[in-house]
Amino acid sequence: MSTAASSTLEQPPQQAPQSVAEFLCQFPRVDTFAEIDEILRSTDFHQGSHFESRPVYGGSLVVIDGREHRQRRRTLMAMFSHNALKRNERDSLLPAIARVLEALKAARGQDGRVRTDLVPMLRGFLIGVSASVTGVDGADEPSRRARLQALVAKLEAASGVEWSTRNHAEVLEEGIVARRELIRDFLQPAQDRRRALVRRLKAGELQKSDLPIDLLSVLAQDGEDGSDGEDAYVWRECALFLVAGTQTTSHALPHVLWHLDQWWAAHPEDRARANDIEFLRAAAIESLRLHQPVPALLRIATKDVTLKCNGRSFRKGERIALFFSAANRDVSLFGQDVEQFNPHRPFSRKPPPWGLTFGAGVHTCIGRALVTGLSRSYDDTDPTLGTIVGVLNALYKAGAELDPAISPRRNTDSHHDAFASMPIVFSKL
Ligand code: HEM
Repeated sequence: MSTAASSTLEQPPQQAPQSVAEFLCQFPRVDTFAEIDEILRSTDFHQGSHFESRPVYGGSLVVIDGREHRQRRRTLMAMFSHNALKRNERDSLLPAIARVLEALKAARGQDGRVRTDLVPMLRGFLIGVSASVTGVDGADEPSRRARLQALVAKLEAASGVEWSTRNHAEVLEEGIVARRELIRDFLQPAQDRRRALVRRLKAGELQKSDLPIDLLSVLAQDGEDGSDGEDAYVWRECALFLVAGTQTTSHALPHVLWHLDQWWAAHPEDRARANDIEFLRAAAIESLRLHQPVPALLRIATKDVTLKCNGRSFRKGERIALFFSAANRDVSLFGQDVEQFNPHRPFSRKPPPWGLTFGAGVHTCIGRALVTGLSRSYDDTDPTLGTIVGVLNALYKAGAELDPAISPRRNTDSHHDAFASMPIVFSKL
């Protein structure tokens, strides 16, 4: 059942390039929407990202391809069914948001206002969301959560080592040690509990609906037992979900606040829509179009290929870099004002309103609906808020705005398009 790190991946480079530009310029550059979309949907290209981070991510869903990927993805889709998303929102997301805001009240200043830094606040909150999606038990307990967060931060740095401005070997080693401790203190006990539940399910003592819907539970029902030790794919999958669930959303959400702050300054008539769910969703999606989770995705041609959209050719084995930022600003697809944030941008299904930010084709983000929610226009007649809108709605109800006294600060320890700090102040908390 278990598969250790995929043996089809190339060896990581011995000497890491010094900058992201130096790293990416080794590869042919692709930055039009039509080319990227065709490449991501083509079976003639395989995953080419995460080579250097293979010791941490190798063997997980995002780096495997073909039949193995199809089967694993089908198994994991159970976590993102309509019912699972509804249950997650009701039982996990909304209570967690309420707890965070309640806890913030303890930090009231002398002027009676509550202030916080959105970035670390979000990180603390999202680690709980990721823990619940992954199936890590007891992450509500503050000291356990702090330790989990510290370990996931190391894993996160290692999983994105390609984009790190630090010493790459050091970052990877820290990630491997963190994963070892994560397995011992969090994942193994959580998996043991789920395997016991599966045994009771099989013995007819429990119904399927009694089991949690999370990664470890879904994999336990699929027969995964972690018997390959530290290298078992179940732990690599947990690493992927813990990082993907925390990092991407904590990078994405502050951008929305930043854009809305500027939008409301220029369009005061829209400020009244701060708690209009569909307005917030449109704002989140528009911000996602403008800001991508990684500087580029990489793919490898599995044979000599000529693209149908423009006749451009790639040789077998060639690794290419896909730049979403330019593709998501294609005037012919998104309109003349593509560089601007516009929450009133006319809705489109094709291309999706977030452009290529969640990828496309077989590796399209499996967690997308968790983040954007299920929307009436795009997904389902019975919508969900999703993490970004759920948090934004709660923040604006509590009167959150950027703190005029302290400016936000950009991220400097990696090339991710993200904020390191965004001080906010609440007027109704
Ligand atoms: C703002 C939020 C997010 C963004 C922008 C984002 C973006 C992406 C992108 C671009 C990919 C495709 C990678 C590739 O093709 O190489 C991807 C894949 C993936 N994402 Fe997300 N993601 C987000 C949130 C999440 C969350 C919350 C989860 C989990 C709870 C998640 C789990 C995954 C997984 C497991 C894959 C691999 C899917 C596969 O290979 O089949 N993501 N994501």
